[in-house]
Amino acid sequence: MKTFNRTLTALALICAVGLFSCSEQKKKELTLQEAYKDYFPIGAAINMSYLNDSAKTELLKAQFASVTAENDMKCGPLQPRPGEFNWKNADRIAEFAKSNGKLMRGHCLVWHKQMPDWFLKDDKGELVTKEVLFERMRTHIFTVMEHFKGVAYAWDVVNEAITDDPEAEDMYRQSPLYQIAGDEFIRKAFEYAHEADPNAILFYNDYNESNPAKRDRIYNMVKEMRESGVPIQGIGLQGHWRIGNPTEEDLRAAIEKYASLGVILHVTELDVRITQSTGGQLQADNAEQQVIEFTPEIDKAQADYYAMVFRVFRDYKNAIKNVTFWNLTDGDTWLDRRANATGKTYPLLFDANLKPKSSYYEVVDFNKTK
Ligand code: GLA
Repeated sequence: MKTFNRTLTALALICAVGLFSCSEQKKKELTLQEAYKDYFPIGAAINMSYLNDSAKTELLKAQFASVTAENDMKCGPLQPRPGEFNWKNADRIAEFAKSNGKLMRGHCLVWHKQMPDWFLKDDKGELVTKEVLFERMRTHIFTVMEHFKGVAYAWDVVNEAITDDPEAEDMYRQSPLYQIAGDEFIRKAFEYAHEADPNAILFYNDYNESNPAKRDRIYNMVKEMRESGVPIQGIGLQGHWRIGNPTEEDLRAAIEKYASLGVILHVTELDVRITQSTGGQLQADNAEQQVIEFTPEIDKAQADYYAMVFRVFRDYKNAIKNVTFWNLTDGDTWLDRRANATGKTYPLLFDANLKPKSSYYEVVDFNKTK
């Protein structure tokens, strides 16, 4: 009887320990950065409002391994007037990265947008000569890259230089930069950047990057640059996507094609917006403002799409070395802050209350058996 009792007690203990550890495991869910530690760092684009909000700061610290300044390291915000550098916000972001052991992607050195007029024009408002532009680019790139040396491990050197028009004969975007210097401005930017910080990984960064026509143009440009010795080591796939677009096939084809150049790939600005055309339904009362309701069906469709996208990223972990979301929650996405925004787009993994959405669980729990 005594032995029987002892056995019972032992069994009860084993069960209790088993149950406890099981519920412990359940409590301790993996974060994004933990779930992907054998794949790639996962990042977020951040701004001052996150660093001034303790709940958002904590979410960033817990979930993400990498940060990018959403706007504060762009040309206009950093050098609003010639020679006058405004480091305040950018330095706070760099300090956040350093003190929390996060990687930091530098974004971005040369872009036709958020570039002040003084950079491109003379006193009379005319576009400057190529020589003047190159001198300004050189000063900007050197000053900025030296300032963040050792913190920014990668830089988007040139942003969005390829046209979106598949019919255009000229594959380059007809921006003032291009009008002044042709495609030489792209090569020069990389040369200056490499000289300024030889250890930084240098990227060309663009959107619609998985669209076959634009993909081929990006590929051709980078191929030619690498063959002629321009120091470019990476391609940034911005990843401003919609449910179902790009398709898995186009996404794989783009990754494979870019990776065949032997470059590093970063997904630099990921979000998957909800639009009417991809299943968003207008709320009748608010039709004029085009408020789209985030229904359980849309939640599921978005989660399935995110699951596919991250499955593909994991398949190409040898090429993909960083995946960064553009912003943190559905409450602060840049998409809903645009001047022409017509409604809500719900593109991220966390809702406006900082709660993980179904998409989050699909991305994190990729080992679960369905
Ligand atoms: C581009 C830029 C980003 C950001 C987004 C949204 O994708 O690379 O820095 O400005 O547009 O505005």
